[in-house]
Amino acid sequence: HVWETRVRQSCLPKKDEGLIVLVTGAAGFVGTHVSLALKKRGDGVLGIDNFNSYYEVSLKRARQALLEKQEIFIIEGDINNKELLKTLFDLIQFTHLMHLAAQAGVRYAMQNPGSYVHSNIAGLITLLEVCKDANPQPAIVWASSSSVYGLNSKVPFSENDRTDQPASLYAATKKAGEEIAHTYNHIYGLSITGLRFFTVYGPWGRPDMAYFSFTRDILKGKPITIYQGSNKQDLARDFTYIDDVVKGCVSSLDTAGMSTGSGGKKKGPAPLRIFNLGNTSPVTVPNLVSILEKHLKVKAKKNVIKMPRNGDVPFTHANVSLAHDQLGYNPTTNLEIGLKRFVKWYLSYHGLERPVKSRRL
Ligand code: NAD
Ligand code: UGA
Repeated sequence: HVWETRVRQSCLPKKDEGLIVLVTGAAGFVGTHVSLALKKRGDGVLGIDNFNSYYEVSLKRARQALLEKQEIFIIEGDINNKELLKTLFDLIQFTHLMHLAAQAGVRYAMQNPGSYVHSNIAGLITLLEVCKDANPQPAIVWASSSSVYGLNSKVPFSENDRTDQPASLYAATKKAGEEIAHTYNHIYGLSITGLRFFTVYGPWGRPDMAYFSFTRDILKGKPITIYQGSNKQDLARDFTYIDDVVKGCVSSLDTAGMSTGSGGKKKGPAPLRIFNLGNTSPVTVPNLVSILEKHLKVKAKKNVIKMPRNGDVPFTHANVSLAHDQLGYNPTTNLEIGLKRFVKWYLSYHGLERPVKSRRL
């Protein structure tokens, strides 16, 4: 009963017409920020996360504590647990599903391929199976990835560009997700929006990502490894600040529309959409490091390797005109400012706000 009461309270919108959103991966980086943004404007939000140990569980718990302060409850469970999902959908009429749970990371796929199949393919299908049977069917927004563009050398990437050359198993599972979404839209009339995020960074971010691990190692005086392209062409990423991505997620939810259902009770097909959410200005990895050095006031010890990492897309750059036109998406935070905010958070989270010389690391 306590559990049920907490679920109901968490899902209660605080304004008329408020959405009721189930957020998967709510203890993750993007999930935490999206949940807070929805709650702040008065939507009902319930999280689900399996708190896996891909990176520090303590960080996921700290994010959970942040959400709990705003009365957002996270159910501890796996998106492959169909019975749990059905219980939640029986209890609450979710208007939307924001699906952010996944096995992220590009290199880890070479060590643990099964976790990508479990979370990114089987987990997605389990969620869609429950959504198709739900009454009402929720509109679905989920995280695909810029990595689907793979070895496509034509930049900037537009949504209709080829995505048949994934460079990693991670990318292949995200691409598979887009095709699975097509099937569920086609057969069951589910409204599904896929968002191709481009290397998202910011406070409460992911320790496995370069900007985060570089910060940690630079502060510890440990050498970092910079993968640079060959032929003088540096690798680059269209690093996108979390607040910009959150705005894109929220307006995707607002414009998602309801599903039509397989009975075709409503007129017209349910939308199947895909959008790039990037920053439109790629930055090389050496430039990323220079900005971090400036904000941290510490010089990095660098190993430079003149070839890309196995599994990496060499260069990413988003064309966001579709998201601009249909979602009003307009990224405004450049890497300089975004990393300043990240470093401020990082130092405060680790209790390192003292002057550089007196820091004990
Ligand atoms: P994250 O790892 O911080 O968050 C994912 C969360 O999902 C984690 O808290 C994890 O515990 C949870 N999770 C994983 N498998 C689960 C399962 N089977 N059941 C329940 N919970 C599970 O990652 P993030 O950076 O917040 O990414 C969110 C989404 O965006 C992911 O789908 C990711 O692939 C995608 N994405 C992220 C980026 C980025 O740069 N951060 C870029 C492109 C796409
Ligand atoms: C990131 C996320 O980790 C993926 O989950 C996500 O799907 C992807 O963005 C995306 O946009 O779709 P990636 O851009 O590879 O993947 O992020 P990082 O691992 O932080 O790498 C960023 C850049 O730094 C890459 O060019 C990488 O080669 C480079 N790097 C990374 C280094 O030079 N040295 C390192 O030690 C680590």
